[in-house]
Amino acid sequence: LFAGETEFVKGVVAMSGLPEADRLEVCFAGRSNVGKSTLINALTGMKALARASNTPGRTQEINYFTAGEDFYLVDLPGYGYANAPLPVVEKWQRLLKQFLQGRQTLRRAFVLIDARHGVKKVDDEIMSLLDSSAVTFQAVLTKADKVKEKEREKVLDQVRGALSKHPAAYPEIIVTSSEKGWGIPTLRSVI
Ligand code: GTP
Ligand code: MG
Repeated sequence: LFAGETEFVKGVVAMSGLPEADRLEVCFAGRSNVGKSTLINALTGMKALARASNTPGRTQEINYFTAGEDFYLVDLPGYGYANAPLPVVEKWQRLLKQFLQGRQTLRRAFVLIDARHGVKKVDDEIMSLLDSSAVTFQAVLTKADKVKEKEREKVLDQVRGALSKHPAAYPEIIVTSSEKGWGIPTLRSVI
């Protein structure tokens, strides 16, 4: 994963628009505003590759990025609250679920969890969906710079508890801060 080998491929608004399934993919899922796009930028070392913003609902398409010749990084729209009209939100939520259930080449989903909030009901629902489609997923704690160590440990315990109920969950949790660069090399090596 080097800046020079990563580029935007396309934004997809329907399953029919997905690129040919000719290589493996990893995707980044999570509630709106959890830091998916920012994490992709941190991973690739390219500040403005994926568009991030403070407004929940920034990413509204399934965005494909190449990572070398071998695989795709996929930035997903968020789930949960979004600052956009309801019919629009419902449309992209449907697409998100179809993608998570039906993409053959999806090798792993990273489910991002805000270090301040832990696993919420919507996260749990997405995890169940991944269980049922047998997509292995791994939890990534984001914005770790926003909490003190003690609080982080508490949230980590809560996340561990939630993961233990999901057969498709990979047990190891990666703690990150895109802001500080924490956990980025670890996540890069996992990918
Ligand atoms: P949607 O596309 O709306 O679903 O959001 P997203 O999950 O892609 O979140 P995005 O990357 O746009 O980031 C949301 C906000 O969180 C932005 O203002 C980021 O700057 C901020 N943010 C993301 N990661 C971190 C982090 O590690 N630390 C801190 N302090 N802020 C972060
Ligand atoms: Mg985004």
